[in-house]
Amino acid sequence: MIKVRDITKSYGSGESRFPVLKGISLTIEEGGFAVILGASGSGKSTLLNTISGLERPDSGRILYDTTDITALSDPALTEFRRANVGFIFQQYYLLPNLSVDKNVKMGADLAGNREYPAVIEAVGLGEKRHKYPGELSGGEQQRVSVARALAKRPKILFMDEPTGALDEETGRQVLDYVCRLQKEYGFTIVMVTHNQNIAEMGDTVIRMNSGKVSGIYTNERRKNAYEIGW
Ligand SMILES: Nc1ncnc2c1ncn2[C@@H]1O[C@H](COP(=O)(O)OP(=O)(O)O)[C@@H](O)[C@H]1O
Ligand SMILES: [Mg+2]
Repeated sequence: MIKVRDITKSYGSGESRFPVLKGISLTIEEGGFAVILGASGSGKSTLLNTISGLERPDSGRILYDTTDITALSDPALTEFRRANVGFIFQQYYLLPNLSVDKNVKMGADLAGNREYPAVIEAVGLGEKRHKYPGELSGGEQQRVSVARALAKRPKILFMDEPTGALDEETGRQVLDYVCRLQKEYGFTIVMVTHNQNIAEMGDTVIRMNSGKVSGIYTNERRKNAYEIGW
């Protein structure tokens, strides 16, 4: 379980100091699908980056079970991320000079996982594993980044607008692969979106408004990627 307790964060200083997170508390259950939903500029990405240990809050605590990651040194925080979390962003951040296989292997090597070809198969890219990112469609590239993130078998998968650059068909496909893989591997999902329809795929939805949590609700049933509107 991840417990976020009274997180604050500002950018800039003095006159131009701008508070982005204004005291956020929430709990994320293990094995679930939590969605952070809010308008552009509400602070979703900053919150995701802070919960996942990519950025540090100005104050507040973030507990992974009993580990307070805000108390870790920089090297310990880096090691914590390596061992526990995977990321998928709107941009794919693949290395253009490496094949699909090598891009995913990089993720796998972080955890010494030699089973990474199975993850490439699991995102439907077995036939394309020797291709380069430039030879793939946007949806296929995002599936490579899904495989790369999951190849190291993270406990938590953080996604920031993962379908933001994709058309409807390929966007649904990417989300469908992620959810199938969650059933198989059992990781926790934390996803940022501004899209209310996509939020119906989660079990807990955390609404953000101007740097604050404006509401938390539970969906009775998680919809799959082909049941939601777009
Ligand atoms: N590195 C940064 N430096 C200064 N301001 C930032 C930085 N990152 C985000 N912001 C500002 O913080 C606010 C929230 O940004 P963000 O967390 O990216 O929101 P969202 O993901 O909901 O669109 C925005 O007003 C944005 O301009
Ligand atoms: Mg954002």
